[in-house]
Amino acid sequence: MYKAEQLAHNIRILIENHSFTAHQKLPSLRDQAADTGLSLMTVMNAYQSLEAQGLVYAKEKSGYFVTPLHDDLALSCTTRVALHEDVSINSLVFEYLKSIQSSHMIALGSAFPADELVCNKKLIQIMAQLAREPSSYSQNESLPPGKLALRQLIAQRYHMHGVHAHADDIVITSGCLDALNLALQAVAQPGDYIILQQHIFYGAWQAAERLGLKVITLPEHPIHGFDLDSFIQILQQYPIKVCWLMLNSHNPIGFNVSNEIKKKIATLIHQHQVYLIEDDVYEELYFSQHRPLPMKYFDLGNWVLHCSSFSKTLGASFRLGWVHAGAFSAKIQHLQLMSTISANSLLQQALVEFIAKHHYEKHLRQLRKNLEKQKKLFFKYLEQNLPKGCDIYYYHSGYFLWIKLPAHIDSMSIYENLIQQGISVAPSRLFCIFSEQRQGLRINCSFAWNEQLQQALDSMIQVIQTHLESATFTVDL
Ligand SMILES: Cc1ncc(COP(=O)(O)O)c(C=O)c1O
Repeated sequence: MYKAEQLAHNIRILIENHSFTAHQKLPSLRDQAADTGLSLMTVMNAYQSLEAQGLVYAKEKSGYFVTPLHDDLALSCTTRVALHEDVSINSLVFEYLKSIQSSHMIALGSAFPADELVCNKKLIQIMAQLAREPSSYSQNESLPPGKLALRQLIAQRYHMHGVHAHADDIVITSGCLDALNLALQAVAQPGDYIILQQHIFYGAWQAAERLGLKVITLPEHPIHGFDLDSFIQILQQYPIKVCWLMLNSHNPIGFNVSNEIKKKIATLIHQHQVYLIEDDVYEELYFSQHRPLPMKYFDLGNWVLHCSSFSKTLGASFRLGWVHAGAFSAKIQHLQLMSTISANSLLQQALVEFIAKHHYEKHLRQLRKNLEKQKKLFFKYLEQNLPKGCDIYYYHSGYFLWIKLPAHIDSMSIYENLIQQGISVAPSRLFCIFSEQRQGLRINCSFAWNEQLQQALDSMIQVIQTHLESATFTVDL
């Protein structure tokens, strides 16, 4: 993997210094292999790693091309680091979630994958069978830290991906958000300083609000996703206790941060003795051959608490998560006994059978294929039909597309307009508390394409167009 990383690094520098320009074709795999003396497989790995980072895109039977994203579409126009002593976002999130709850809603704003995409008949069969024999899923064995057989299987999965883990490191939780909240509570006290990315899943803002933490926001980097210089500046300037980061399939924007940067983050948090709560809930939803590595892989001490779940791969009805807690396992179990107690025992046992009999791997392979196909369909349609001035961020993983509207359009008003028509979208205000960063919309691409879906997208396009025209008219006046 080292040679592939080196090649990806070299190409990235050429993209950054404009030796490669937007939409320029990279040398074919064969030419690159001949020029560098590397194997075809190594070159392929390097190209796929660049693709996962959003630096290049693949065209079927044509090769790899440079994404125009990186000059013309800055991920974020501010690069300021900011301190927020009093976070207050909970009411907004509550109102938003209430507004999209109706089962008739076309849920483009949902954070969950469509049921038809993730629902697995085998798992339902296993659950139905177990449900008839209560003795097979004893509640006692499922109490914190969770069923041993399930923790062993999760530890094995970490091993498969090169991360050291023992069943005793793992605590089973009632989903990823539960894992994240417990992990944060285990390391932070009210009044502590926490780093959050400028755009981040609203659960992070809510957790900071609930615990009374002082939040320092880290801007996104226009090319790498993660702004290492600002991160260093923050660590030098503030007594940071913990950071909560998403570096793979970032929600809402979608980027994957490179291994090189992850390595540097690991060194920095080790030097500054800062804990990292890693939200890796979309870890399985990558489309390239290699799975993006978690920060836990690079951990130099016991600084990273890695959190994930099955909610994004099997659906919200099967919400069960875990934290690789290491030395914090006992503390997290204490906290669990004061809050959610334990995750559902029937589901724990069903997952043991589902994973042990290799159904999960098979399910994931199919899911990744379907998801990639669907995400590309959405991207193509929006690329062809969205008005000029809207930018779409496509990354090679997950099921979100991030649309950046022209500067004078507030995505909140697009959301408010569409909700009247029974269509939800997720506006930037849910993820970012800066008032000047209001142009983002997150779209869920996991729904099967049909007439109703296309009509919903057309309505969204129309609403954006109308806003754009009235904004232009106002400016002209
Ligand atoms: C980034 C992110 N982290 C965590 C969660 C929570 O996951 P779970 O449903 O497993 O609690 C979500 C769910 O939307 C999410 O998008």
